[in-house]
Amino acid sequence: MTLGHPELIAAIASEISATGPIPFVRFMELALYHPQFGYYMRPPEAHEERIGWSGDFYTSSDVHPILGQALARQAQQVDSLLGHPNPFVVIEMGPGKGLLARHVLSAAHDECPALARRLRYVLIERSASMRSVQQQHLRPWFDQITWLEDLSGLGESSTTGLMFSNELPDAFPVHRVEMKDGVLLEIFVEIRDGRFVECLRPLSQSALREYLERVRIELPDGYRTEINLAASAWMQQVAGSLNRGIVMTIDYGHAARDLYGPERSRGTLICYHAQMTSEDPYIRVGLQDMTAHVDFTTLATVGEACGLSVTGFTNQMSFLMGLGVEELIARHEPGSREFQAAVHLLKPEGMGRTFKILVQHKGIERPELDGLAFKPFFGSALSAYAAV
Ligand SMILES: C[S@@+](CC[C@H](N)C(=O)[O-])C[C@H]1O[C@@H](n2cnc3c(N)ncnc32)[C@H](O)[C@@H]1O
Repeated sequence: MTLGHPELIAAIASEISATGPIPFVRFMELALYHPQFGYYMRPPEAHEERIGWSGDFYTSSDVHPILGQALARQAQQVDSLLGHPNPFVVIEMGPGKGLLARHVLSAAHDECPALARRLRYVLIERSASMRSVQQQHLRPWFDQITWLEDLSGLGESSTTGLMFSNELPDAFPVHRVEMKDGVLLEIFVEIRDGRFVECLRPLSQSALREYLERVRIELPDGYRTEINLAASAWMQQVAGSLNRGIVMTIDYGHAARDLYGPERSRGTLICYHAQMTSEDPYIRVGLQDMTAHVDFTTLATVGEACGLSVTGFTNQMSFLMGLGVEELIARHEPGSREFQAAVHLLKPEGMGRTFKILVQHKGIERPELDGLAFKPFFGSALSAYAAV
């Protein structure tokens, strides 16, 4: 089994020998986002695909354009709620290969040309290598698109429109913690006999304990999990960039009480390589994706504290149904490849329910959005308090 990308391994090893064991979050940051050799940052070899059917993992936009088509419909309703601003700005964060952007832009041009004429599309992408893949997929719409490396390029309260992401916060580096004999410890990474191994150390930051206190989680002894502080910081930045409009975060994840519940006592960190999963982040370092499920309670709570009110929380199946996906699917011959691909995104035992969508609003009354018309969760699904 390969340990990983040789230059990346050498870079991580040299950091560990200079500083001693590094927190897992730093290891994951280097594995995914080392400026030259990180999984998302290094230019792909010829014919190498990270995202897609012949890559390491696929996303909804590799399956079928209906998610993008539904988002374009939702954007049209948001545009009306905002009084048809000019420009109407769509900010897509973490766009991967740019396929979802292609589907949204193509549907907007086909189905709502009046909106398409006022549309400014901004892609926020950290990786120059991913930006060049996106540019290949988005040539027809170049005059409407701006690329930025991070949200700070937007300016405070600069956006009136829709900000969304699909599978972004799950790709942020996470801290890993473990409860041992009543003490919350953090997983660090060191090198022994030429391999990366874990050791438990006192917390590198008190923010980790405060995080669990905020969602009212007390971990039992032996419990191991992840804490995504970067997702909270990102949500604060999103809130700061929005003037008036809607934020949609599509990802796999749970309310905190489920994410940190008894059935996930080893956490949710998982790696993807060639469409296969592995629980070992210390092999194929820089050659495999790493991801952890998202805590939607914290995204909602942090957003609330920065002026983003929760509009609703749903799953992908209900979101698509609310936006009339049946009619979009009916355009395909039943049983055809396209028909089956579209249905794949709705499957209750798969992507339809695994993917959740947190919708937040700012600067407008709580809107009734079509994407939230069906309610898969009742009561306050995101509450930090345990269900009674
Ligand atoms: C899992 S992929 C997203 C898939 C894509 N949205 C889709 O629908 O296929 C994660 C993407 O987010 C980018 N990314 C990671 N951290 C980021 C950040 N802080 N800001 C912007 N983009 C980021 C990665 O480079 C990658 O393009």
